[in-house]
Amino acid sequence: MTEKKFELVDRATGKKSELPVRSGTLGPAVVDISNLYKEHGVFTYDPGFVATASTESKITYIDGDAGILLYRGYPIEQLAEKSTFMEVAYLLLHGELPTRKQLDEFTSNIRYHTMINETLLRFFNGFHHNAHPMAMVSAVVASMSAFYHDTMDIHNPRHREIFAHRIIAKIPTIAAAAHKHSVGQPFVYPRNDLDYCSNMLHMFFAVPCEPYQVDPIAAKALDLLFILHADHEQNASTSTVRLAGSTGANPYAAISAGVSALWGPAHGGANEAVLNMLEQIGTVDNIPKYLAMVKDKSSHFRLMGFGHRVYKNFDPRAKIIREMCHKVLARLGRSDNPLFELALRLEEIALKDEYFISRKLYPNVDFYSGIIYSAIGIPRSMFTVMFAIARTVGWVAHWQEMISDPTMRIGRPRQLYTGPARRDYVDLSKRG
Ligand code: ACO
Repeated sequence: MTEKKFELVDRATGKKSELPVRSGTLGPAVVDISNLYKEHGVFTYDPGFVATASTESKITYIDGDAGILLYRGYPIEQLAEKSTFMEVAYLLLHGELPTRKQLDEFTSNIRYHTMINETLLRFFNGFHHNAHPMAMVSAVVASMSAFYHDTMDIHNPRHREIFAHRIIAKIPTIAAAAHKHSVGQPFVYPRNDLDYCSNMLHMFFAVPCEPYQVDPIAAKALDLLFILHADHEQNASTSTVRLAGSTGANPYAAISAGVSALWGPAHGGANEAVLNMLEQIGTVDNIPKYLAMVKDKSSHFRLMGFGHRVYKNFDPRAKIIREMCHKVLARLGRSDNPLFELALRLEEIALKDEYFISRKLYPNVDFYSGIIYSAIGIPRSMFTVMFAIARTVGWVAHWQEMISDPTMRIGRPRQLYTGPARRDYVDLSKRG
């Protein structure tokens, strides 16, 4: 909806123009600059997209100053308390909470697709045992495009729906296969009588030589973590999926691009980095030394799991996970957890420190999640894979939203060129 105008004056030419201002349901309005180049011959410049809305979206809303996160309008705290990951997945994909019948149908569609092609399974043999699981997951998800190429027309809504069910169903199977490959154990086939997270734990931890009982506390904890990680509007990996998908690329390839973007320590890779950092800090006595390192820019040391591009307040997900740590560790009989104690003290000390106060740096979703993953037996190198499993739902929802928009265009940013101006080729014999 166009409500007001933003006046732009080019002082060099005296040319004035009015740019349309568009307001959404919540959050800051945007100045629509899509005709700026045509009318004024200039681009906008915003490295890191600090003040750029790259798209219109109806899926997720974040108010970073107030620490608010809504999925399709529902507060994350309510979804975390009352919902399940499958219900949240339906909500993100379809825009509304499902009826009982819709949820049952959706869940059984996901269960139906959990197996992966046997040939795909053999791809893992090509990886060295110590390959990082994110590299294996990204490669195998991309390879799925080879299995579903001719049958995938991105403009066919039914094909898009089957793709959504397939990738959400198969990503835990791929993740578990990566884990089993890393530890040298045989692959464990999915069990479709189990719910999403119980099945994942089964594929991770069962072995053929003895019965395996899924711990319901671990499955519940995982389900809650998956709800919290399911979407986060136009973050780096989601924007990557949108950009790759905007070319009309096979969606499995676009999701694989998202997995790769998530891997970085500034994004989803931070959960693995947090536990490495806590181990490096070791004891509460060492915290001041590490805070001093943070302030010394030449050290390049950052407090992992702290800070966020959008949240300038508590990340609401971090608050929920911190609470969850207390409960899950107590229920698993692991209340005495030195790394969790250290993380709590680190948060307390950092939040009183002028450096963190003045920059509005708070714990983010990754600060405490690794403590829970560790407690339920997930190895550290698999933490970001866990994040990727949950975020697949968000990636698919955004890809669907983009492809089903008839006005979609290829994403193609421009640049401020600062390289050499035009010059003539110098023959090799005449150089230097
Ligand atoms: N530790 C120490 N200082 C920090 C941290 C941190 N974790 N995060 C930001 N800062 C400082 C920066 O050095 C900078 O200080 P300066 O103004 O003196 O130069 C200031 O705070 C602003 O930081 P930017 O890097 O400009 O903020 P940006 O929005 O670009 O980065 C990011 C956000 C990448 C999340 C950053 O806070 C960070 O690196 N955090 C640690 C990694 C992490 O936890 N990532 C997970 C984010 S959540 C997610 O993606 C799932």
